Amino acid sequence: MKLEQYKRAIEQSNIVSKTNLDGVITFVNDEFCKVSGYTREELIGANHNIIRHPDVPKEVFQNLWDTIKKKKTYISTVKNRAKDGSTFYVNTTVIPMQNEDGKIEEFIAIRYNITRSIALTESLKQKEEELEHLNTTLEERVKNQTKELRKLNKTLEKRIKKEVEKNRDKDRVLFQQSRLAAMGEMIGNIAHQWRQPLSELGIILYKMKKIYKKHSGENDLDYFESYDDSKKVIKKMSDTIDDFRNFFNPHRPSEAFSITSALDDAMLVMQGTLQRHEIELKVDIRDEVYIKGYMSEFSQVLINLLNNSKDAFNQNSSDNRVINLEIKKFDKNYAMISFKDNAGGIEKDVIDKVFEPYFTTKHASMGTGLGLYMSRMIIQNSMDGTLEVQNCLEGVCFYIKVPVCCEKEKCNG
Ligand SMILES: Nc1ncnc2c1ncn2[C@@H]1O[C@H](COP(=O)(O)OP(=O)(O)OP(=O)(O)O)[C@@H](O)[C@H]1O
Ligand SMILES: [Mg+2]
Repeated sequence: MKLEQYKRAIEQSNIVSKTNLDGVITFVNDEFCKVSGYTREELIGANHNIIRHPDVPKEVFQNLWDTIKKKKTYISTVKNRAKDGSTFYVNTTVIPMQNEDGKIEEFIAIRYNITRSIALTESLKQKEEELEHLNTTLEERVKNQTKELRKLNKTLEKRIKKEVEKNRDKDRVLFQQSRLAAMGEMIGNIAHQWRQPLSELGIILYKMKKIYKKHSGENDLDYFESYDDSKKVIKKMSDTIDDFRNFFNPHRPSEAFSITSALDDAMLVMQGTLQRHEIELKVDIRDEVYIKGYMSEFSQVLINLLNNSKDAFNQNSSDNRVINLEIKKFDKNYAMISFKDNAGGIEKDVIDKVFEPYFTTKHASMGTGLGLYMSRMIIQNSMDGTLEVQNCLEGVCFYIKVPVCCEKEKCNG
């Protein structure tokens, strides 16, 4: 009676089946039919492998048979296939049933459906994997974004720096230009003030000549010579004023000009300085070369170089002060101006810095450190050329290389 109750309890709570020694089904309970989707009629007499899932390897069944044939209980989780092709998982216990002689008569399999928990575990695992993947890609994405941001930051910094530098350059050029403009204005005023007295002087001289002629006749040659000389001096003064005015005229157009005429302009400003400081300038014009740009700017470059040499000579108080300036054609399409002094040169550790703005070795009252910077800007930006420096034997050598504009005959500059 009790045995019957046990049997019912097991059958009601589990999936139960029985097979003979060949694996042919001899009994199934309702739960078995429900989970497998087969009717009892379909199952009884069929081989138990009717619910075998193709994913399960043969070895698993081999192991099952090996175990139960040894009269041992087999316990495992098994993946099965229902009639409609769906998968179900069961915790399986197969028990070999023996008769009094100890011979196996049949097998009873008691199963418990764990499909839901397997599905849950699987989806949990999948979610975990997804999360992990998300996590790693997130990390990577954050890393990439940070990298990009950093890059952007860096280029932004660089761009700002560049813009600030550009603006500063513009300021400097404006400053230099306004200085030139102010100087031009001043020279214009001086010219205006002097022209009147100069012409008055001419008239006075002429009057004196007339009076003198009346009193002494026409034969005092010395006097007339002096008169002519004075007129020449007045004319020269008047011309010089015009030259200066021209030089400082900020509206002078870009033009083709000969390097020698730019040098003449520079000398107009620098001649007195060179004489005062007993500096000899030796000019060697190998070729008459024409270049294009702003002549006053180019003259300014030469003035800067001459002024720098003058300062260097004074600093080392050398006696024999010579500057050699050579102008020649170079590489067919270029003009090369080499400028060499014998003022001792530039210290090795600062020679790379001399073109930097505000670099100076002079006292604040003597130099701003803009001379060479501006000079290089003029040669590079306005004239498409290069300005380089080197120490040579006794001093410094500057090399200005600029494209030649045209042949002399064709040039209207
Ligand atoms: N011919 C030279 N001999 C020796 N040192 C020189 C010579 N030319 C330039 N230098 C060095 O290069 C530095 C920079 O020259 P740069 O003309 O740019 O500025 P600066 O002459 O000091 O000032 P600024 O020209 O603005 O009045 C000078 O301070 C000087 O140390
Ligand atoms: Mg200078």
